[in-house]
Amino acid sequence: LDPSTSSPSSLPSLSSAPPKQPFVIGVSGGTASGKTTVCDMIIQQLHDHRVVLVNQDSFYRGLTDEELKHVHEYNFDHPDAFDTEQLLECIGKLKSGQSVHVPIYDFKKHQRCSESFRQVNASDVIILEGILVFHDQRVRNLMNMKIFVDADADVRLARRLRRDTVERNRDIHSVLEQYSKFVKPAFDDFILPSKKYADVIIPRGGENHVAIDLIVQHIRTKLGQHNLCKIYPNLNVIHSTFQI
Ligand code: CTP
Repeated sequence: LDPSTSSPSSLPSLSSAPPKQPFVIGVSGGTASGKTTVCDMIIQQLHDHRVVLVNQDSFYRGLTDEELKHVHEYNFDHPDAFDTEQLLECIGKLKSGQSVHVPIYDFKKHQRCSESFRQVNASDVIILEGILVFHDQRVRNLMNMKIFVDADADVRLARRLRRDTVERNRDIHSVLEQYSKFVKPAFDDFILPSKKYADVIIPRGGENHVAIDLIVQHIRTKLGQHNLCKIYPNLNVIHSTFQI
């Protein structure tokens, strides 16, 4: 089929289309900025599409016995704390339509669960969420859209304190120490500088329903264009043919 010469009635139905490449959305932002809430809201609103969420946290390297002995000295906010090669391979496979096994990370043990994985299947939209997903250029290059979730540092620290003490079994003293020693410096050195790569910056994180509605509308438009362009690379030509 030559799209430039097709008439509307001769266009093939979408169901006979070749497999489409998923639309990859990166969601970054500082710790406890509301990334998860933003992702959940996007997923809820895109209920008529197949959407999968992949967390960068899943690719944390497990600590060695020696590192575990000095866990308070370990910097979980440095890019080297993640296995980025494995993350790249995983997103690359998902983007080419293959299903993958994503590791499961235990924040209490600082280890991966060696036995179990989460199976993630091919989908229309892949959301990759994490503090440092914009850090590596190769990971950024896989993304069709980049969102940075912004929230005031004091709001983030308050949320983090509550989360780490309630959900991750940590004491207040160690959370505050980790925050000033590693979390805040890494935010300034790595996360904040990566904000410049974002296409969209959401102020007030998950509370910002207007921003999320606008983003979802945009994703829907892009999904439509994305899919049509895969089927008809010369879509612009079709447009002009129709108008004539
Ligand atoms: N972290 C930790 N202990 C580990 C591994 C990671 O304390 N064993 C912390 C790191 O210090 C890092 C944070 O986990 O700052 C990354 O997770 P975060 O972005 O805070 O979690 P999300 O729930 O994804 O964030 P949000 O609230 O924005 O959804």
